[in-house]
Order: sequence, then structure tokens, then C-alpha cells
Amino acid sequence: MGNVILIGFMGCGKSTVGLRLSYRLRRTIIDTDREIEKEEKRTISDIFATDGESYFRDRETDCLRKLTASAGNQIISVGGGLPVREENRALLHELGQVFYLRAEGETIYERVKDDTTRPLLQVEDPLTRIKTLIEERDPCYRAAADVVITVDGKSFSQILDEIEKHVESV
Ligand code: S3P
Repeated sequence: MGNVILIGFMGCGKSTVGLRLSYRLRRTIIDTDREIEKEEKRTISDIFATDGESYFRDRETDCLRKLTASAGNQIISVGGGLPVREENRALLHELGQVFYLRAEGETIYERVKDDTTRPLLQVEDPLTRIKTLIEERDPCYRAAADVVITVDGKSFSQILDEIEKHVESV
């Protein structure tokens, strides 16, 4: 289906990289979190608070299924926890070429420490939480990925250059 898909932990830069990539490659961008918020007419934080995480995870799978029926030649940025489900990894693979933006816990922490919109990080010790989650999820991200890009210490344009080198022409 020729999509370019960006996966990785919260704060790894998926949204910014996705937006810039969409300009460079002249493709439209879709973000699964924003699609779910539009569909549900409420924020991710509201969804987690009212219906819980497992309800949200089911909406992520629904969203991917819809994309497999509609998206082609686009940039798709997905929520940080989405690749954890095996079924979702299969759907990502169907959708296109998957890029994992890999970052160290410290890099993530610096970017998200003042952010209140990510319910999973609203805890007393977010750095430890981030490191634990990264360790748990890294195998899932790697299993889903066609290409792994390490982002620590790199500028957005360096990251974009690296991605562009690998993007399969469709
Ligand atoms: C989540 C990541 C968030 C969002 C939700 C849960 C996660 O997306 O889907 O808060 O489990 O890592 P971003 O990665 O775009 O922040």
C-alpha cells in the first residue's frame, strides 16, 4: 500500500518528523491518535480516564483496520503503544514500510517532562516509567520495523535524510 509508517516511544519525534517528511515527500500525513480523538470527539486523556487503556487499545486496532482499507502512499504516525499488539504489527506490515525512531529514556524524558497530555506518564517518577516501558516495548518496535533509526543527538534534518534514503519508491 506504499505508506511510510513511523513508530516509536512517546516523544521520539514521530509527529514532527512525520509532518516534515510529508512536505519533503509530498504525501499527506495521518496520526492515529488524532484520528481516534476525532472519531471519539474527546481527547486521549479523556478516553483513558473514562473508559480505560484497553478501550483505547481496541480503538487503535479499529483505526489501523480502517487505514488498511483506505490509506495508500501516505505518512502514518502511530501512538507509542500501538505496536505492542501482535495483530497491530501485522496490520502495520500490510500498510507499508515501517520506521522505528529509537530514543534513549533520557532523550524522551527531556522532551515530555512538562507534558500533561500523556496519561501513562502522569506518575511520580516518569523517567523510571519511561525506561521500563522502553525496555518492555523495544522488542515489539523492532519486530514491527523494517528500518531502525536512532534519533538521540540528531537534528530533524539528519533524521529526515536517513529516512529518505530508505524510503522505497512506489
Ligand atoms: C501512548 C502514546 C501516545 C498515545 C497514548 C498512549 C503509549 O501517543 O497513544 O497516550 O502507550 O505510548 P504518542 O506516542 O504519539 O505520544
